Amino acid sequence: MGHSAPDARYDAMIYNRCGDSGIKLPAIALGMWHNFGGVDIMQVSRDIIIHAFDNGITHFDLANNYGPPPGSAEETLGHVLRVDLSRYRDEMLISTKAGYNMWPGPYGEFGSKKHLISSLDQSLKRMGIDYVDIFYSHRPDPETPLEETLGALVQIVRHGKALYIGLSNYNPAQTIEAAEMLKQMGVPCLIHQSRYSMFDRSVELELLNTIEKLKMGFIAYSPLSQGLLTDKYFEGFPPASRAAKQYGFLRKKQVTPEVVEKARHLNEVALNRGQELSQMALAWLLRDKRVTSVLIGASSEKQVDSNLAALNNMSFTEDEIQTIENILAE
Ligand SMILES: NC(=O)c1ccc[n+]([C@@H]2O[C@H](COP(=O)([O-])OP(=O)(O)OC[C@H]3O[C@@H](n4cnc5c(N)ncnc54)[C@H](OP(=O)(O)O)[C@@H]3O)[C@@H](O)[C@H]2O)c1
Repeated sequence: MGHSAPDARYDAMIYNRCGDSGIKLPAIALGMWHNFGGVDIMQVSRDIIIHAFDNGITHFDLANNYGPPPGSAEETLGHVLRVDLSRYRDEMLISTKAGYNMWPGPYGEFGSKKHLISSLDQSLKRMGIDYVDIFYSHRPDPETPLEETLGALVQIVRHGKALYIGLSNYNPAQTIEAAEMLKQMGVPCLIHQSRYSMFDRSVELELLNTIEKLKMGFIAYSPLSQGLLTDKYFEGFPPASRAAKQYGFLRKKQVTPEVVEKARHLNEVALNRGQELSQMALAWLLRDKRVTSVLIGASSEKQVDSNLAALNNMSFTEDEIQTIENILAE
C-alpha cells in the first residue's frame, strides 16, 4: 500500500538552486550518518524519514559506510523506500558517497576506479534502487591520480548509475582542479559538501568563494556541530544524546565547558530572537546565499520539526550578527 504523503508537503519548504544547475535543493536536507543504522530502532528511523519527506525535505544524504554497521543506513533507506515511499522516488533526491574505509583490503577505500564503481554498485543494491541522484567522492585521495577518480565518477554518470557528481572534503585547490577536469570531461560537478557551522568556519576562508566562482552548489554538513549548537548539553549528558552513545562520533571530551559556555551565550541571542539555538544556528548559515542547503542530522521527528522552524526567521539585524561574532571570537 505504501505511505500517502500530504498534498501540502511542499508549501513551507524553501528550495534553492544548486549552483547553475537545473536542480533545486531544499534549504534543509536530512543526513543519515547517525540514527539510521542497524543499531538504531527501525521504526524510529523510518518515522523520521517519512516525517521529513512529508514536510518538504526531498534530499536524503547517505554514504556507503553510514551505520553502524557500515552499509546499514543505506539498507534502512532501502527498506523505507520499498515499504513506504517507492511511489515517491521521483520526488526524492538521494545521494551517497564512497571514499572512506568500507571493506578490508586495498580496494575498500579512497578514490580508485575499482573502489568507487564497486562501492556504488553495493550501495544501489542495499537501497534497492537503479540510480542515485548524486554520487560523491567522499574525500580526496592523495595517491590515486585525480583523472582516475574523476573518470570513474564520469563513467558512473554515463552509465546512468548517478545523475550528478559531488565532491566532499576537497580543499579549494583540489576543488578548482577537479572542477576544471570534470568540465573538460563534459560532466560538471553539481555540488560540494563540507563541514560548516558557527563552531567550524574554516570554509569561510576560501572554499565558499571558490565554490561560488565555480558555480557549484554548497551543502553544509554538521551545521549544528553534531548537537553542540543546541541546548542539550547545558545540564550534562542526556542518555540518548550522541555524545553519550557508545558509537557516536561526538565524544564526551569534545563537549568542553568552554564550548558549552559559548553555546549558552549564543542561546541567549537566539531566545531574544524568539528562536531556539539550533534554529538560529541553521538560519545563520542559510542567510549566506552561497549556502544552498544545510544538511542536518536528527534523532527524532521533533528535532526535524524544530529545525524546519528555522525557516520562519532567517533575517538578522547588524547588532545580532555582531553579538554572534563577538561570542564566537571569545
Ligand atoms: N561528507 C562528509 O564527510 C560528512 C561528514 C559528516 C556528516 N555528513 C553529513 O551531514 C549529515 C549531518 O551531520 P550531523 O548529524 O553531524 O549534523 P548536525 O545537524 O550538526 O547534528 C545532528 C545531531 O544534532 C542533534 N540535533 C539535531 N536537531 C536538534 C534539535 N532541534 N534539538 C536538539 N538536538 C538536535 C541530534 O543529536 P542527538 O542524536 O544527540 O539527539 C542530531 O543527531 C550527516 O548525516 C551526513 O549526511 C557528511
